[in-house]
Amino acid sequence: MIAGIGKNNELGKKNKLLWNMPADMAHFKEKTSGHAVIMGQKTFESIGKPLPNRRNVVLTRDKSFKAEGVEIAYSFEEAFSLFKNSSRASTDTARHDSAESEIFIIGGAEIYKQGMAFADKLYITHIEAEDKDADVFFPEIIPIVFGETTRETHKADEKNPYDYSFVEYERF
Ligand SMILES: NC(=O)c1ccc[n+]([C@@H]2O[C@H](COP(=O)([O-])OP(=O)(O)OC[C@H]3O[C@@H](n4cnc5c(N)ncnc54)[C@H](OP(=O)(O)O)[C@@H]3O)[C@@H](O)[C@H]2O)c1
Repeated sequence: MIAGIGKNNELGKKNKLLWNMPADMAHFKEKTSGHAVIMGQKTFESIGKPLPNRRNVVLTRDKSFKAEGVEIAYSFEEAFSLFKNSSRASTDTARHDSAESEIFIIGGAEIYKQGMAFADKLYITHIEAEDKDADVFFPEIIPIVFGETTRETHKADEKNPYDYSFVEYERF
């Protein structure tokens, strides 16, 4: 899973992100490009379009939901099964072997909460900011389940208003 979170695990408010942090956006793009992303319907609505250079899977329980340029899944199991689909894999084997070696769960809150059970690795940007009006939060990262493997700390600068750290956690 990949997320940018505040000091209290804040994720968003009113179906939008809380802070404009271009460095986090660039990090997200670098990590996920060429791979597959799975997101909730609300996050898709918030982004407004499929993310380029990535296979986009949108989770919804709404059977009438339709959107251009994305694949739709009605459960996590169905979403994951898309990556084992032999008909697509057989016509595009190389792409499957390399490009989708990582499948990123990209939010939002409902999807992260359920995704914790499936995730092997967490790419978390810890943003040194707080917002009392946040209405969605990242789930607790339980230290006996996930251990920190790397941390890269940055100071605020002219483009990024808060200090931030790129931290990776791996399931023990
Ligand atoms: N800071 C970050 O890194 C980050 C990243 C992503 C999102 N966000 C923020 O998070 C917020 C959105 O999060 P959210 O929790 O409101 O919504 P969400 O998790 O993006 O989407 C929830 C929707 O996903 C579908 N869904 C949930 N569980 C499902 C399941 N097991 N099977 C099939 N479909 C399922 C349902 O869609 P239907 O209602 O269509 O059935 C549900 O309404 C926004 O504020 C956004 O900006 C922040």
